[in-house]
Amino acid sequence: MQTAIQFLNENDAAAFEPAPAYDGPMVDRFGRAINYLRISLTDACNLRCVYCMPEHMTFRPRDELLHGHEILAIVRASAELGTTKIRLTGGEPTIRPGIVEMVRSIASVPGINQVAMTTNGLLLAELAEPLAQAGLRGLNVSIDTLDPVKFKRITRWGDLGRVWDGITAAEAAGMHPLKINAVVTRGFNDEEAVALARLSIDRPWHVRFIELMPFGSVAEFQQEMVVSSAETRALIEAELGPLHRVAGDNSDPARPYRLAGARGQIGFISSVTEPFCAGCNRYRLTADGKLRLCLLRDKEVDLLTPLRNGCTVDDLKDIIRTAVWNKPWGHGLPDGIVPQQREMSQIGG
Ligand code: 5AD
Ligand code: SF4
Repeated sequence: MQTAIQFLNENDAAAFEPAPAYDGPMVDRFGRAINYLRISLTDACNLRCVYCMPEHMTFRPRDELLHGHEILAIVRASAELGTTKIRLTGGEPTIRPGIVEMVRSIASVPGINQVAMTTNGLLLAELAEPLAQAGLRGLNVSIDTLDPVKFKRITRWGDLGRVWDGITAAEAAGMHPLKINAVVTRGFNDEEAVALARLSIDRPWHVRFIELMPFGSVAEFQQEMVVSSAETRALIEAELGPLHRVAGDNSDPARPYRLAGARGQIGFISSVTEPFCAGCNRYRLTADGKLRLCLLRDKEVDLLTPLRNGCTVDDLKDIIRTAVWNKPWGHGLPDGIVPQQREMSQIGG
């Protein structure tokens, strides 16, 4: 039986150490409690956002991706190790065949008390209700602009009207709080932040502005497009008045604010200018079955191979526990260290 950890980034192999015995949910070497697993269900997408993928992107063949039963085995093992929250990402998670059943199965795993999803919203008009029925509770929809022409330019062919119908369907299905994610990119949507922020006045939504993270093969192109949260915030305050800090959850990367009298919130996810690694509680599973221990570090552990070699549940738990123990402290973006081995779309944010 293969139980040995397979290191996918040889440079980092020396940094892996065995996890000591301890009671209770998983922690890493730095004492961070790790209870939130983000699962990329596919590296493929039905859009091609300019900062995310080239137009003619090639995706991984199906047999290199985890099967549904393998994903479930990992979720069960993770739940036994104290994982309570799962987020499904992509690429675009809704294009994975059987997505509704997948949500239902994950939501019924003992110990998992929240299943959420990050989506581009294109298929939500049809899927929001069945996903809610299946147990999906949190929904983050990515919209970088409210201008249909700019939306098409950023996503290469996306139809903003369809996404908006999807959001309406999600609200009708009772998805609260609905979160809107916008990546701010210079030259594409840096002036759109005000209109997006305004959405939080009348609606109970959380509108979150994300700093672009330079990544993989598009990193060089992206570097010139980064807009800091400070800049975005100043633009919003100049138009809509002061933002008031509100209480939030320490493990949430978005620092939450509110406009005076607003029903919803505004958040800033400042991965580049103000990393939030100290409160990090997450680990990630890529669609090809690797545990990725930090979004922005190429340090990964293979689960696909041991699973296909027939490892036991205890073997799987040992591998996950050791991997998580060795989670890197943080990323090197402020020092210009950019991950190279994968694209964002293979990890899911
Ligand atoms: N930096 C920051 N966010 C990104 N996203 C995709 N690529 C990047 C990047 N390089 C966002 C998407 C979506 C979420 C899944 O990640 O816009 O909101
Ligand atoms: Fe698809 Fe999201 Fe990448 Fe856009 S950012 S191409 S919606 S995975």
